[in-house]
Amino acid sequence: MAIVLPDLPYAYDALEPYIDEETMHLHHDKHHNTYVTNVNAALAKHPEIGEDSKHPEIGEDLESLLADVNAIPADIRQAVINNGGGHLNHALFWELMTPEKTTPSAELAADIDATFGSFDDFKAAFAAAATTRFGSGWAWLVVNKEGKLEVLSTANQDTPISEGKTPILGLDVWEHAYYVKYRNVRPDYIKAFFSVINWNKVNELYAAAK
Ligand SMILES: [Fe+2]
Repeated sequence: MAIVLPDLPYAYDALEPYIDEETMHLHHDKHHNTYVTNVNAALAKHPEIGEDSKHPEIGEDLESLLADVNAIPADIRQAVINNGGGHLNHALFWELMTPEKTTPSAELAADIDATFGSFDDFKAAFAAAATTRFGSGWAWLVVNKEGKLEVLSTANQDTPISEGKTPILGLDVWEHAYYVKYRNVRPDYIKAFFSVINWNKVNELYAAAK
């Protein structure tokens, strides 16, 4: 299964002034591309992965591999977690942003209110998860195994998929995601992210997860 770097679904400068063009080039063309290169190198050591007839216990795609990391061959396990997770997280992240004005669906908005109290309470919980993630990682809104919304953060490139949870919104809080424009002020980057969230995509993922 060769993984391919997906194109951005918009121009590199489309998210200005919230996310700057230089960051988008570095982040997509360099950082994301490196995860793609490295996960392909890891998977190349086990060409049986993805050929279901030989190893039905091993997932056929990255999502299913990362859903059961213990089934990944030990010699490439951490490389797949880091770089396969890096690829999946970033591929999702690009789709979760848009220059268009979008809003949560009525169903999602009602669930957010019921779960967190209000949309502002959800924003505060998400921002807190993003702000307090020490070092590198991601903040997430997920649908958990019980079908409930949950805000959490993960370290490094770990995906909520490995915890049996379906990510429907995610924010990259690695310094490479914001340092060019926001320097060390992660909270300003988190605030800006809320201006470019593609709620149409979040709504779609929410509906599919429920
Ligand atoms: Fe990133």
